[in-house]
Amino acid sequence: MPEILKLKSPADFIGRQGAGVISFGSGQPDLPPPKEAFDGIDLKRDLRYGLIQGELKLREALAKEYPGSTAENFVITNGASEALDLIFRSWGKGGKVLLPRPYYYSYPPIIELAHMVPVYTDLTDGRIDIEDFKKKVKGCRAALINSPSNPTGRVEAIETLKGIEKITQKLGVYVVSDEVYKDIIYERENYPIQGDYVITVNSFSKTYCMCGVRVGYLWSADKKVVEDVCEMKTHTSMNTNLIGQDMALSAMKTPKEYIRRQQKVWRERRDFIYKGLTELGFDLWKPEGAFYVLPKCKNARKFLSVLYQEYKVITYLGEWFGAPDRIRLSYALDIQQIAEGLERIKQAMQKVRVF
Ligand SMILES: Cc1ncc(COP(=O)(O)O)c(C=O)c1O
Repeated sequence: MPEILKLKSPADFIGRQGAGVISFGSGQPDLPPPKEAFDGIDLKRDLRYGLIQGELKLREALAKEYPGSTAENFVITNGASEALDLIFRSWGKGGKVLLPRPYYYSYPPIIELAHMVPVYTDLTDGRIDIEDFKKKVKGCRAALINSPSNPTGRVEAIETLKGIEKITQKLGVYVVSDEVYKDIIYERENYPIQGDYVITVNSFSKTYCMCGVRVGYLWSADKKVVEDVCEMKTHTSMNTNLIGQDMALSAMKTPKEYIRRQQKVWRERRDFIYKGLTELGFDLWKPEGAFYVLPKCKNARKFLSVLYQEYKVITYLGEWFGAPDRIRLSYALDIQQIAEGLERIKQAMQKVRVF
């Protein structure tokens, strides 16, 4: 039996590739960006510092996608990651933030780095329990939600999202809505939550397969939120990469058909991995969006260690997402690789008891 690895976080795996490795780890699309993203990109453009808030043309284009908005409601950031970081750090003076659990693994560190305290509402069958949410959100400064979700693949019901709008508006608690998977939904259109206390975070990483370009944004109706974030950004990263912003603007000109084609690919992969894991005996939620599954798994660390060292398969520990006794797999791989990965998982199951 190989040693049990002392991996601390996904950072131990991010970027690891190599001969024969099948990675169900990384949450990034393997599909190419749309060709439009490269159209008219001028590498010889003016490269002096840009506006901290982001290029006006990009913010104006985004405003057309958010009814009732103007360019002033947006800040362009280095991915959704920076938007999240700046929101919490610009508040920064303590207070609790409510997180549905399981959560995206960066949420607790982002909140703690801002000297705030994460508190949790446990999901029921992978979904927010609105009664528990209502109870726990009292006394919080903010809640942070993520639908479609990494790592559960669940999409919250519109009813739940409307409930959250109402509860947070009434209490005057901010709700940060991380919608980076808004275009990868299998069942229906995204429902973007709205209101005076809503801060929406989004990204070009997943919709347009541009993770490495690092362009995302936040939207808020509250001028003070936008100003505070810009102030923090002035003293940290300054403007977001200008060529990246040009690419983001060009990508927005991609016909919507591109998004529909991507959804079809993700759905085929979702069906394939869900069937495969179910046939192997795993108990898991069927993803309704994003590209992750979170099956139950006993001896998760031992299984992950065997899978990696003996079968060259990367999976992530559920405990990194607040879900011990589960493992998390991303299906951002072509069907042949998913099939090969499932075969290796089947073999590793002979060595470790997972049920
Ligand atoms: C839920 C969630 N939020 C934010 C991010 C970060 O996205 P970005 O590349 O825009 O920083 C990810 C990346 O996997 C994610 O899964």
